[in-house]
Amino acid sequence: MPARFITFEGIDGAGKSSHIEAVAERLRARGAIVTTTREPGGSELAEALRGLILHRPMDALTETLLVFSARRDHLIRLIEPALARGETVLCDRFTDATFAYQGGGRGFDTGVLAMLEQWVQQGRQPDLTLWFDLSAEIAAERRAAARPADRFEREDTAFFARVREGYRERIACAPNRFARIDAALDRDAVHAQIVAALQARGW
Ligand code: TYD
Repeated sequence: MPARFITFEGIDGAGKSSHIEAVAERLRARGAIVTTTREPGGSELAEALRGLILHRPMDALTETLLVFSARRDHLIRLIEPALARGETVLCDRFTDATFAYQGGGRGFDTGVLAMLEQWVQQGRQPDLTLWFDLSAEIAAERRAAARPADRFEREDTAFFARVREGYRERIACAPNRFARIDAALDRDAVHAQIVAALQARGW
């Protein structure tokens, strides 16, 4: 089975995280060796940086550089070796989140993001990105019922509307890499859309 790199994206509250294990089970049942991981994080150093990124006040450039530093360590220690072994890597968020949150949400220069992406990833891109799309308003209602908020989750609805727009712009640049999942639907309907996206690729 060929190596595959699948990422999960969407604004906070879209509900992506709860579906990752179901995808892992499905691909394992079909013979894949699956590693699940997340960003920021996924390696010891990147998890330490995650704590800073989510909880310490900082400007948008510092935030962006830390996100890419974490990504670099995660890539070379975990993602690239796993893909080189022919495994499947499922990652909860990746660089599309940087374009959406730091680019769309914070208004950081996307040209600079594209340059950092090239330096850090050397051309590595996900084979498939499942984009859990939900309006900023519904996502805010869902988040209100969840655990204590981090620095991003405390942002207002206008911030998340910009993040959603950031995702849209990113998808317009590489539409074939993405599958849009309507995250407003119930859990079973969301799962069915994910299965359809995998089946469409013969996975
Ligand atoms: P998240 O997946 O929401 O973690 P959890 O489900 O545990 O809350 O990710 C944490 C936050 O990090 C999320 O609010 C988005 C933010 N983030 C960025 O701003 N830029 C990035 O490049 C990444 C990967 C995440």
